[in-house]
Amino acid sequence: MKKTEDLVIAIDGHSSGGKSTFAKAIAEKLGLTYVDSGAMYRAVAVYALENQIIEQGEIRREKLLAELDEIGIEIRFSKTRERYETWLNGKNIEDEIRGVEVSKWASTISAVPEVRVAMVDLQRKISENRGVVMDGRDIGTVVFPKADVKIFLTAAAEVRAERRYREMLEKGLSVSLQEVLDNINLRDHQDSTRTASPLKPAEDSLDLDNSKMTLEEQMDWFEKLLEKKRGISR
Ligand code: DC
Repeated sequence: MKKTEDLVIAIDGHSSGGKSTFAKAIAEKLGLTYVDSGAMYRAVAVYALENQIIEQGEIRREKLLAELDEIGIEIRFSKTRERYETWLNGKNIEDEIRGVEVSKWASTISAVPEVRVAMVDLQRKISENRGVVMDGRDIGTVVFPKADVKIFLTAAAEVRAERRYREMLEKGLSVSLQEVLDNINLRDHQDSTRTASPLKPAEDSLDLDNSKMTLEEQMDWFEKLLEKKRGISR
């Protein structure tokens, strides 16, 4: 197995399943860069909402494709906030990308094949010549089919909705639990049934159902997995 600093770790799974928390903890533990690929699709959705690409509940596909090159997405690390933040054409949009409206449109927009090609390209560029932990839907299947570790993280929809609901309340967002659950069910359906890179486990990924697991337990599971892989490749 490669040196720790060169490892590529792919974490895929359904919406709000705790992928980013798990991925960040792994990145911190191993000293790797964390990349939230979903934030990029969210950034495209923000651009579309702000630039009349989404109008009357529809995506104007032609306009979206014509402007795809003008959507400049960057992921920067904020030392003051100690987190990675998403920037769109020079503007920090980290706080606006997590709401229900952007989540809904990010899912719809991520089904557009040309958007996926551009985002996969960006995801590979960000990871050039360095180890990363990246979370998303197609990381183990499309972005890094040769990733060193592939994990498919899942949890019951009700458990995911409850977690997301609490997070949103803490952020002061006004939303009902039912709304969050409906949104999760809709996104699960859209993400798994789209034609372009649908959400599915890679053939060589390992399933982890974290419905009843703490982050600490997930990290214990991960460390055992890594030890086992290191043992095998020795
Ligand atoms: O992980 P997330 O919920 O922030 O992702 C937002 C949307 O982007 C989600 O509906 C699915 C889509 N997505 C994707 O299609 N492929 C990825 N690699 C990451 C996210």
